[in-house]
Parts: sequence; structure tokens; C-alpha cells
Amino acid sequence: MIEKKIYSKLKMFFRNEKEELHEPCFSKHEKLEIIKCLKSTYVSTKGKNTKKFEKKIKLTTRSKYSVATINATTGIFICLKTLGVKEGDEVLVPSLTFIGSVNPIAYCNATPHFVDLNNDLMDIDYDRLDHYLSSIVNFKNGKCYNKNTNKVIKAIIPVHLFGHPSNMRQCLSLAKKYQLKIVEDCAESFGSKYQGRHVGNFGSMGVISFNGNKIITTGGGGAIITNSKKLYSKINHICSTSKIVKNYRIFHNEIGYNFKMPSLNASLGLAQIQKLKNFIKKKRWLYKKYVKVLSDTNDYQIMKEPINTFSNYWLQTIVLNNKNKRSQKKIIKYLNKKGVGVRPPWQPIHTLKPYKKCPKMILKNTSKASASLIHLPSGANVGYSYKKVDT
Ligand SMILES: Cc1ncc(COP(=O)(O)O)c(C=O)c1O
Repeated sequence: MIEKKIYSKLKMFFRNEKEELHEPCFSKHEKLEIIKCLKSTYVSTKGKNTKKFEKKIKLTTRSKYSVATINATTGIFICLKTLGVKEGDEVLVPSLTFIGSVNPIAYCNATPHFVDLNNDLMDIDYDRLDHYLSSIVNFKNGKCYNKNTNKVIKAIIPVHLFGHPSNMRQCLSLAKKYQLKIVEDCAESFGSKYQGRHVGNFGSMGVISFNGNKIITTGGGGAIITNSKKLYSKINHICSTSKIVKNYRIFHNEIGYNFKMPSLNASLGLAQIQKLKNFIKKKRWLYKKYVKVLSDTNDYQIMKEPINTFSNYWLQTIVLNNKNKRSQKKIIKYLNKKGVGVRPPWQPIHTLKPYKKCPKMILKNTSKASASLIHLPSGANVGYSYKKVDT
């Protein structure tokens, strides 16, 4: 029954027969930028748009440096590698996240160490994590060792889930106590702020995604932001195949990666980034609209940004109350049949084959989130009567 109630409420407010989970919004501006790039013939990383886009990212995030990459997953990998994460190290990361937060740890031959969410089901439970770490670590030579595995706990990846900023005050204090480096996973949170400051500026680096389903897109793409000149120079070099040009001859002084974003993708980004403010405005409006349309019941709540934060509301989320958890599957199936692209959250990563044996704290809220969250259609144009290509 609950599924029918939700559908009848959504139907009144949606303007289209079908609503996808997250459709990108394009207009003539994107086409013009792409055509301009094609005409220049400089479609690879050699073109000017990659640098131009990096400049725009810096301005938007108010970070000192940025490196545009082919996606956020490779960005996170490069950040961890640059910070010296290697075999024998562990990295703390939520289990409820996209696999792109976790695979980069394995690419470094290090081990993910899974941490739980708090009761709001969208951020790390820093209090419980502190309590947990204090019971399992030893300090030797300024390093934090996991007594159970004898590995060094080297870093933490706070994920600004669904666009909602993680509590960076708590994260910084935990990192200081346990000598951890911080790489912020801002894949979903371009435009989001914690205490007035753009996410990604609190740790050593932050990584944004511009995948097709993100708030703005470059097709595939990402960006690393940092305020350290030293880290920037290292990252930019290694992402550009560690190339050095002397007298027109190309040298490579270490093993680098071909990870920079091509100019053609950046041209799409240049058009999209101009619309970021407008997209955020629409997404924040959509949150309020969902609250208004759906919230006349105790069956669930709509996930709200934490206090002292400004969320881009990338992915709108229903949190089912305990007694309705069993309805999650039914609701998702019914709404999809009716053309409403709702989704469950990701399968918690500690349950997936490659990561089953990794260390973890008790993940009770992760399991709860997995069973009780439903993501709603969240594109910037949901609920607007719009010409499909214009914004
Ligand atoms: C939380 C999170 N981290 C990392 C990624 C990886 O981003 P990309 O697809 O750009 O590699 C994504 C999304 O796609 C994500 O949602």
C-alpha cells in the first residue's frame, strides 16, 4: 500500500511520464563549446580547455590548485599514492559508498578498513569510530598501528554522501589524534559547503566527479583540488605521464599515468559549470518540494542536510522508518514499473567478494541504511515544466 501512496503523490508533481534517477541537463551552450573545441582540432589534453576548466574549478571551490582528471576514481588513487599509501597500510572508508571510493585503496595494494555511519545514515559515526580506534590501535614512531593486523592505519576518506557534507570538524580532530591523512571524496558534492567552506578544502586533497550522473558533467571526468603547491605539482606531473619536454624531445622522469582530462570533455564542463548555481538552486527547491508533497506521514523522512552545512542535494533520499524497512524492495519495484527511476543505495562494500575479509568496525547503521534508503529522481529539472534541452 505504501508504494501506491508514494506513487500517487509523486505523480501529481512530476511533469513527465518517466523520471530517471538523475538525468543531465544540456542546452545549446554545451553544443557550442564542443563544436568550438572540435573546430580547434585540439581535443586531447593539449587543448586549452582543460586548463580553463581547472581555473573555473578553483574559482568555484576557492581552492588554490586543481587538476582535472579522467574520473574521480583515478583522482582518489593518485591522491592516496601521492600521500604514500602502499602495501601494509590501511585506509578508513565508509562501507556505504560507491565502489570508486574503495577500489583506489586496493590499487595502492593497501587495505580498506570499513567504518560505520551515524544515526542520520549519511556521515561517518566519528564518535563511535574514535571509541573503536582507541581500542584497536598502538602508536609506534608516530604511526598508528592496527594491533589486530599489524598494519599502519594511514588515512581516512570521508565521503560527502549524496552531496551532504561530512562533519569535517570531527574528521580533522580524529585525523590529528590518530595521525591520519585525509582525502575527501567530494565526488557527489560539487558546490556543497561545510561551515561556509567548499568541501575538499579540509583534508590534504578533495576529489570531485563529473560523471554523467553528477550535478554537472563532462561525460566522464573528475578533479583533484588542494591548497598545497607541493602536492599539486606532484599530482599534476604524475597525472600527465610524468612528462618533461626539453628541446622538443619528451622525457619521463618516473612512471606516470595518462589521467588528465581531455580538452573535449573539459569543453562540456566549461558550459556546465556556468549552470552549477542554478542546478543547486533547483535541487534545493526539489528537496523542499519532496518534503511538501511526500511528508504527510510517519512512514519515512526525506534526508536533510546536516546543520552548519550547505548541500548541493545531489541525490534526494527517502529514509524509511523501522516498521517500513521491509517495504523497500516492494516500493522500488512498483515505482520503477510506473516509470519512476528510484533506486536502493549501493550494496555495502564490506559484503562484496573482493572486500569480504577486510577489517571493519560493527556496521549496524550501514546495514540499516542499506535496508531503509530509497533514492528519488534527483536531476535538476525534476518537477519543472521544461523544454528538455533548456535550463
Ligand atoms: C562517492 C563516490 N566516490 C567516487 C566516485 C567515482 O567517481 P567516477 O565515476 O568519476 O570515477 C563516485 C561516483 O561515481 C561516487 O559517487
